[in-house]
Order: sequence, then C-alpha cells, then structure tokens
Amino acid sequence: MRDAQPKAIYLKDYQQPDYWIERTELTFELQDEYTLVTAQLDCVRNEQAQPGAALLLAGQDLELLSLVLDGQPLTAGQYETGEESLTVHGLQERSQLEIQTRIYPAKNTALEGLYRSGGMYCTQCEAEGFRRITYYLDRPDVMSVFTTHIIADAAQFPVLLSNGNLVADCVDDGLHKVTWHDPHKKPAYLFALVAGDLRVKEDRFTTMNGRDVALKIFVEPQNIDKTDYALDALKRSMRWDEETYGREYDLDIFMIVAVDDFNMGAMENKGLNIFNSSCVLANPATATDAAYQRIEAIVAHEYFHNWSGNRVTCRDWFQLSLKEGFTVFRDACFSADMNSATVKRIEDANIMRTVQFAEDGGPMAHPVQPDSFIEISNFYTVTIYEKGSEVVGMLHKILGKDGFRKGSDLYFERHDGQAVTIYDFVQAMEDANHVDLTLFKRWYKQAGTPVVTVNSEYDADAQQLRLTLSQRCPDTPGQSNKLAQWIPVQLGLIGADGQDLAIDVEPAAAWTESSQVLHLTEAEQTFVFNGISEQPRLSLFRDFSAPVKVEFEQSADDLLFLLQHDSDGFNRWDAGQRLMLSWISAAQQGRFELLPQVRDVFARLLADESLDPAMVSCLLTLPSEAYIAEFSAQVDPLAIHAARKQVQQAIAASLVKEFSACYQRLQSTAAYAPVPAQMSARSLKNLALAYWVKGSADGLAQAVSQYRSADNMTDQMAALVAVVNSGASAQAEQLLGDFYQQWSQDALVVNQWLSVQAGSAELGRVEFIQQLLAHPAFDWRNPNKVRSVLGAFANQALCHFHREDGAGYRLLADAVLRLNDSNPQIAARLLTPLTKWRRLVPELSELMKAELQRIMQHDALSKDVYEVVSKSLI
Ligand code: ARG
Ligand code: ZN
Repeated sequence: MRDAQPKAIYLKDYQQPDYWIERTELTFELQDEYTLVTAQLDCVRNEQAQPGAALLLAGQDLELLSLVLDGQPLTAGQYETGEESLTVHGLQERSQLEIQTRIYPAKNTALEGLYRSGGMYCTQCEAEGFRRITYYLDRPDVMSVFTTHIIADAAQFPVLLSNGNLVADCVDDGLHKVTWHDPHKKPAYLFALVAGDLRVKEDRFTTMNGRDVALKIFVEPQNIDKTDYALDALKRSMRWDEETYGREYDLDIFMIVAVDDFNMGAMENKGLNIFNSSCVLANPATATDAAYQRIEAIVAHEYFHNWSGNRVTCRDWFQLSLKEGFTVFRDACFSADMNSATVKRIEDANIMRTVQFAEDGGPMAHPVQPDSFIEISNFYTVTIYEKGSEVVGMLHKILGKDGFRKGSDLYFERHDGQAVTIYDFVQAMEDANHVDLTLFKRWYKQAGTPVVTVNSEYDADAQQLRLTLSQRCPDTPGQSNKLAQWIPVQLGLIGADGQDLAIDVEPAAAWTESSQVLHLTEAEQTFVFNGISEQPRLSLFRDFSAPVKVEFEQSADDLLFLLQHDSDGFNRWDAGQRLMLSWISAAQQGRFELLPQVRDVFARLLADESLDPAMVSCLLTLPSEAYIAEFSAQVDPLAIHAARKQVQQAIAASLVKEFSACYQRLQSTAAYAPVPAQMSARSLKNLALAYWVKGSADGLAQAVSQYRSADNMTDQMAALVAVVNSGASAQAEQLLGDFYQQWSQDALVVNQWLSVQAGSAELGRVEFIQQLLAHPAFDWRNPNKVRSVLGAFANQALCHFHREDGAGYRLLADAVLRLNDSNPQIAARLLTPLTKWRRLVPELSELMKAELQRIMQHDALSKDVYEVVSKSLI
C-alpha cells in the first residue's frame, strides 16, 4: 500500500487562482538525452487576490535548473519546491517569471507531457500533462497567449511544429530553429509540440467567409499513402460545422499529426491535433469500413472542439462534459448526416446500454458533472462523453432544432474566449428559448440510470388510451433518494395497419408535436390519449430519446409486429433485440425454439431490397453478451455465452439458403470505396457470411475463398473472423498464419490480427493470451498493442476471461500491476472489467475480488490505479 493515500479534490472547493498568466513564451532545446525547457511567464495578480500572495505552480518529474523573477535570479527562501509544486514569493501586480527545467522525454513511458514515440517527439497535455513540461498554473481557467521556440538537430528533425502560425524557421549550424505563435488565448492543456522526420499531405479549405486555410497531415514516411480519407473527412467536418452551427475556422493553418504511441484516440490541441495513428491512417487494403467510420468521427470530433472546447473551454475539470458531451453530440450528428442516421443511433444506444449503463451500475458511477475525483484521467469515461452527449441530445429534442441552434449561438457568442461551466451552457439554452430548465439540470448532478415503468390501459368505449409512466433511479456511490428527472419520451401509437395514429393528449402541455415528445417530469404521471379508435401498439422512446432503462411487457406478437412495421427505425431494431433477449433467456432455461413465423420474418428481411442493408444487418445481429448481462441480477457469463451461441446457431441453421442467397446478391464487382452505399452493402454481406459459415460447410468454403480473393481489409478481415469463429481450427490457423505473413510490417494491421485472436471465444484461452503477450509483435509500451490483446481478451473473450479457476482475472491483474509503474492511465483503464465483481455469481465474484485485493496490497500504486481499485472494494 502507498504510504500517503491520495486525496480527492472537490468541485465545491473551486477557487480562482491568485495569478493569471497573460503570455507564455517557451523555448525547447531537444537534445538526445534530455530536453531543456525555458518558460517565460507574464503573471498578473488576480483582482481577488491579496497583494503579496505567493504564486503556486504545479510540476511533476521536473529538474529545476533556474528561476528568475523580474530579472533577478531567485535564491533559497524566495521559493520552495514540493513534490509536485513550486511556490514563488515576491511577485508584484505584474511580474515576469523565467523558469528553466530539464526533462527526459525518452524515459517518459506514461505518455503524458513531452515524450518520444519511435523517432519523433510529441506531447499530450490534457488533462494535467503540461506540468510535466514546466512549472505552470496547469488548470483550464488560466488562458494565455503562447509563443514557442523549438531548437533541434536539423538532420533528425526537419519538421518542428507547435500551435498557431509559423513565424520563424531557419537552419543554423546544424540546428533547426523555429518559432510558432498562437494568437488565441488558451489553457495549457491545449499546448502541443511535435518534432520528427515526417512527410506531409497538404490540401486547402476556403471558409464560409472566403478565408483560405492550409490543411496538413503529418505522418511517418511509410504512411503517406494513408492520409487521403482523413483529409477528406476534415474538409467535410469544416463545411458541416459552418452549415450546422455557423462556426468558421480561425487560423490560417490546421494540422494533424499521426503518432503510434498514444494513450487515447486523439487530442484537439489548438491548430495542431495529435492523433493515435489508428484513428487517422487508412487505405482500402489495411483499414476496415468500421475503421474508416471511426476515423471520420474522430477527425470531426477533434475539429469540432475548436469551438466546443478551445474557443469556449472548461472552467475546471469537473466541467469536462461541457466540451466532451457537446462535442460527441456534434460528431454523432455529423456521422448521422454522412451515413445512415438510424444505424448510427443504434450503435450509440448500444454503447450506452452496455458500457455506460454498466458504469452507472458499478463502483465508479459518477454524474455527468462529477463532484469529486482523485485522478482526473479516470474521468474520461462513457458517462462524461456518451451520457454527456445524450443529455445534450435530450436538450435538442426538448428545444427542437431551431431552438437548440439559437441556444448554441448564444452560448458561443456570450462565452467566446472564456472558461465556463456546464450551467453556463444550459443558461444560454434557457435564455435563448425563454424556458426554465431547472428540472432538466438534474441530469448533470445525479448519477445512475433512471428506470421508467410503463402501464397502459385502453378503453374502447371512451376511445381513450391511458398511459402511466413512473420513474426511479437506483442509488449510486454517495447518492441516494434521487429526484425525478425531465425525461423526453418520443412516442408513436401504431394502428393495425402499421400507420401512426394522430395524437391528441392531455395534459396538452406535456406534448411537443414537432418532435413527437411527451415530457415526463414527475415520479409518476398519467397521460390520456383521446380519439383512439382501436387498441394501438405502443412505440416508446423512439430514436432512443432518453438514456433510461424501460420496464414494459410487450407480447412476442407485438414485438414481431413492431420489428416489421414501426416507422421508427431505432424501435424496429429495439423490438428485435427484445425478442432475441427473450429467446436467449429461454435458452438459458433450456426451452428455446425458433418459431416458423419468426424465421419467415427474418427471411423476408434478408430478401427485402427496399431496406438499407446496414439496417438489416443490425436487425439480425444478436444482443452482445455484455448487453445480455445487464438483465441478470447475478451474471453467469458462461451460461450467457452458451445460450447466445445456441440462439445464433439456430438462426444460422434455419436460414442457410436465405443467408447464402443474400450473400450472393450483395457480391459486388465495383472497385472498393469507403462510401456509405458500399459500406452498407458489405456490412450485410459479411453478416450473412458469418451466419452462413455457422450453418453449412459451403459457407466455410465461401469464407476461405473470400479471404483469398479480397482486395480490401473489410472483406479480408470479415472472412478471417468468420472462419475463426466457425471453430474450423485447421483453416483458422492457416489463415491467421497467412495473414501475419502478409501484414507483419504494418503495425496497425498486426494490431487487428492480435485482437481478432485475443477477443475470440474460439481462441482466447488464457494460455494463448500469454503466448500473444510473448509474441514479437507485442509491446508493453504501446497502448494500442495492450488494448489489442488484453482489452480484447477481457472485454470480448468473456467465456475465457471468466474462467472458473480465476486464471483470466489473474492474468489481467498481473498486467495492471506491470503497467501501474510504466503507464498508470492505461493500467487504470484495463482494470474496468475487474470492477464488476459484485454483479457476478458468487464463485466468480470472490475470485475477482481477491485479485483487486492483491492489487491493493501493492507498494507503489499510482493515483490512477489506486482510485479505481479502492472505490471498487468499498
Ligand atoms: N480531449 C481528448 C478528446 O476527446 C481526449 C483527451 C484524453 N486525455 C486523457 N488524459 N484522458 O477528444
Ligand atoms: Zn473530445
């Protein structure tokens, strides 16, 4: 156990700093062994602070070389260093402080601050990484104008980048020297620096007001043929943000850099976004359709941050969802506009209902605006991001498209250049729409997933439907007795002909016609629908209108009807999911059988050429094991795995002809392109192949043949996965060997190869995972590799991770301990599956808890790991 327990910090303790930093001038001298950093800070005392107040700066892993205040070198007594701080005395109302520090980027395995990745240098400063570069007021409410000088060996570092505009660039005596100046004030977490021997792909964009912007993507030389798609996605994002939000780009240059070693997906540094290479690089031979869509979404996300995050930023890290929730909402709408909106909604709802609902039900549950944390890195969560986005989406449903836009316009206008809170965002929505959102704000303060219970009664004589909705929200750590939240229930009443009935509801004020939303604002409410001439079928929470669980018994007949006829695509899919869940639960009790009428509906869907193929693919995909687990009080992962497999097998076996016919119909001779129509067709084709392989030997032969003839990674990978999952071990082994031979030089493809194996129920046994960890392609220092093997194993190969002797848990705990020292952020993230121990059947629960206790005994736990483990054991 660590000697001093890390302390939590609280939102209620927020105070402005005693000083602001108006101007920051940085000089980096990159040398082989270390980097010298000189920081000149123009400090201005906060009006609220006492004259003579000390300046308290944050710093971590820094060697302090010198301190000069207003031209005078400081000596002992005029400053003090703490373990992670520097206190300087004697500042005037305005003072200039010069700090020189030495740092060691090559030894920085935490990948925060300035570090080396291969032959290049790069930075990651969000949330609190800048303090590993120099002593600073490393908090988002301190916004400064940055000038950055970089000096490095000219031969090794032809490319030297930082934020803003390049204002000087020369080579002098073998040294490359540049100066970048960013005219926009920004917090230190948006600072970035890159140095390397990189190639650049360039393009241009003309903004809505006719300004010309240079677009540049920097990559290592071997990746220059993988930049086209990201560049195209960037231009589409820039146009979309102008059209949808009226937001124009504000510098003359926008740069993206791809880096192999990166803890997260990407980072929105001002004018210089840094990306995990897996989230930006793609060409048809190496990237799947799913990878292309992810790249499009992340490029957009980071670009959109230029306004929702950079121009208007967060006052403190408790407001993280201010920028992340809003920006995820913005990128989700963009992706919906670029592709199938319904399929995007289904994917997002799936993440909410599996990953986020599980987080809400576990020991790390926290509100969208948390009130305390030990390590902020642990709060880059699905709750902050995805639930935060859902909350913004509910505002969009409540206010309507135009009302929402008025609110966002006011927000950007009012707060441009400021660091603000989530409530400032809500206030702008209220003021622009003259509406009181007091009740709505509870979504930000209360953790947990609300449960809505539905009761309906039809009175044929009165031609009335009475709908009673009640809500409750379970206790979460530190929170009980929650208040009712404002839940928008988008709904339709469907007649026997499949058409929506007209809606005339009392109280009329609870209904918004434009968005077809019923407002549930109390613990229990009854709504009366008039003029209902037949017993309708209810379609509730259309488009996943609120992130809630719904308790509503509907008959299998009703669900089958909705699956075929609901005008809301999301609810068609959801009806199918609910049916499948009921079959899986029946299979667990040994009484499942696929009824002929169900089989026929599936057959019709597969043959229906009027439907979007990607939508059909969603409709026929079984709920994941993680989602099924959400419905059991005591989770038995092995039983869930077996039951799901049985249902999958039954569908495959009874529709062999239909799957093969669908597959044949969707075969295409067109050249591969990552465009929506093609991607949609491939998604259904490859789903059909996966079922066909399970249903017949012909399917297996076809998969092998598709693997051999594929000219793109989507088809090659889908065939490989189908063969691996078929259980045909000889063929699987052969193809996996071929695949590695073909791609061993391409790190991103090798990562996919690792994760297909590690996440597979057929292969992912503990002993095999150990072999993968010892494979030359594996590297503990690279987060993508760690995720590809250990993340895939613990989150997907559930039947092996939950092995009954606990060996799966032990493997993961060992990995967490190993990474605790080198990369705490990744270690803490990897822990998530172990935090679920309370939900498991007793035998497994005990074994998992024992591993957490073993981690807790470790001597030098990082704050990151300590927070997750200690909260999990409470
Ligand atoms: N702001 C970045 C993004 O969403 C993520 C940064 C994550 N950093 C971290 N330390 N967890 O787009
Ligand atoms: Zn973000």
